[in-house]
Amino acid sequence: MSSLIRPSIKRNINRVTEKRTCLITGAGRGIGRTVAARLSAAGHRVALTARSADELTGVAGALPGPAFPLPADLTDDAAVSNVFGAVEQRWGPVEILVLAAGTASSAPLTKTTDDDWQQALAVNLTAPFRCLRRAVPAMVEGGWGRAVVIASAAAKRGDAYVSAYTASKHGVLGVVRSTAAELAGSGVTVNAVCPGFVDTAMTRASIENISATTGRTPEQARQALERRQPINRLITTEEVADAVELCLRTPAINGQGINVDGGAVQS
Ligand SMILES: NC(=O)c1ccc[n+]([C@@H]2O[C@H](COP(=O)([O-])OP(=O)(O)OC[C@H]3O[C@@H](n4cnc5c(N)ncnc54)[C@H](OP(=O)(O)O)[C@@H]3O)[C@@H](O)[C@H]2O)c1
Repeated sequence: MSSLIRPSIKRNINRVTEKRTCLITGAGRGIGRTVAARLSAAGHRVALTARSADELTGVAGALPGPAFPLPADLTDDAAVSNVFGAVEQRWGPVEILVLAAGTASSAPLTKTTDDDWQQALAVNLTAPFRCLRRAVPAMVEGGWGRAVVIASAAAKRGDAYVSAYTASKHGVLGVVRSTAAELAGSGVTVNAVCPGFVDTAMTRASIENISATTGRTPEQARQALERRQPINRLITTEEVADAVELCLRTPAINGQGINVDGGAVQS
């Protein structure tokens, strides 16, 4: 079968096995931290960003390969530019970009404030847009690149009490799909991974919030979130990282939103 593949395509497929320069946002904990560990274990150079310098330093110190912690608030466009500039200066252009920084809040529509709305869009939609816009030219010029956005099952369906979060995640999936179409054939792919409830600090905060607002015990609140996945448990960060790795190694996957939610969303 492989002998039927044109040499240029074969070269493109194999190039993911090279050691790459990676930038991972939201790398201080949760999904971003697990993805950073995977990419470092595979031998790549891994730059890490999030606001909490302490968390980044801890993650960087535990990685087996070259790591570069870059504390930044990604809602600030100048900070985004500085992060990319620092990576380029040390290692050259970003070749693998994984956008895992995110924020979540919950409120009925009528109690969703302008601040809630702006914060969700700034972190979950505008920051990934700016990172993609900054990363893509060098990827195209180099003829190879991978970008993966950690979106959410909320990119594909609407649940109660999360209108701002849902809007931001639907939006970022739109950016992914459009950018992927624009770059098709360039050697650069852009995809999203759409998890259900993942066992991270973000979900633990949701459990506390449900418990506080409904009077359920934390255990009952956790079970309610577990039942949102038909497999009746939370998703692990390793399972999300598996889907990220699939996007990195398979050039035929482009413009997708890959569900990692135990079968809750079937599209
Ligand atoms: N957990 C879930 O159930 C779930 C489900 C579906 C999708 N997702 C998505 O997956 C992504 C990762 O979530 P997670 O569960 O790993 O969350 P998490 O454990 O809370 O981690 C979020 C990361 O984003 C960083 N971050 C937040 N705001 C930032 C900002 N303004 N600038 C830079 N970094 C910022 C955080 O660091 P600092 O606070 O230090 O900045 C942290 O490193 C998010 O986009 C989330 O929406 C999560």
